[in-house]
Amino acid sequence: MKGAIFDLDGVITDTAKFHFAAWSQLAADKLGLDLPASFETELKGISRIESLERILAFGHLEDKYTPAEVEALAQEKNGYYLKAIDTLTKDDILPGITRLIEELKAHGVKLSVASASKNAPFILKKLGLFAEFDAIADPAKVAHGKPAPDIFLAGAQAVGLNPSDCVGVEDAVAGVAAIKAAGMTAVAVGSPEELSQADAVVPTTADFSYDLFETTWEKAHQ
Ligand code: BG6
Ligand code: MG
Repeated sequence: MKGAIFDLDGVITDTAKFHFAAWSQLAADKLGLDLPASFETELKGISRIESLERILAFGHLEDKYTPAEVEALAQEKNGYYLKAIDTLTKDDILPGITRLIEELKAHGVKLSVASASKNAPFILKKLGLFAEFDAIADPAKVAHGKPAPDIFLAGAQAVGLNPSDCVGVEDAVAGVAAIKAAGMTAVAVGSPEELSQADAVVPTTADFSYDLFETTWEKAHQ
């Protein structure tokens, strides 16, 4: 393993609750919809616009708004979201992540971020982790969102590595699918049933380690 390509939301910090709260506020105030709790998981790894499209489809509102209005609604949600994540500090880094980053760097592993979030640089700065990564792939520059491999391929390319030399790290089903489609080894955090496509699944981020990543990568390449 020469590189570790990280998802951000749900892997480095837990922002799903803030995304869901912001979408719920938009749905209630602007769309007249009560968003079911299942959307918190369903929207993990899904881009801002595609998340809104799914919410509009849920409310049978897909034909109600012009593309410009849809864009304005997405921006409004981002406003609510930015207000909520302004409170993030290094205390919001998920357990084990700071140690994992140190271990990977000590072994000369390149670190890259492959998040669907356009707010990834802002969030990493808030967490005090921005300088730890060698690259942050820009989701605005890739053609297809997760589960397509594009953002993970961009993450590997940004640090000059072949996908097969990289481990991708995810918490979402769409994200694990993206890692595998990119030809990388997938290490995931969460439910082994949901994330069965991954090469290794651990219950919490505290279970991540250099050894887990390296042995999983070696097994996948036997
Ligand atoms: C992903 C989240 O990381 O980023 C999704 O899991 C979110 O829920 C997506 O929709 C896009 O985020 P942003 O910050 O660009 O709206
Ligand atoms: Mg995620």
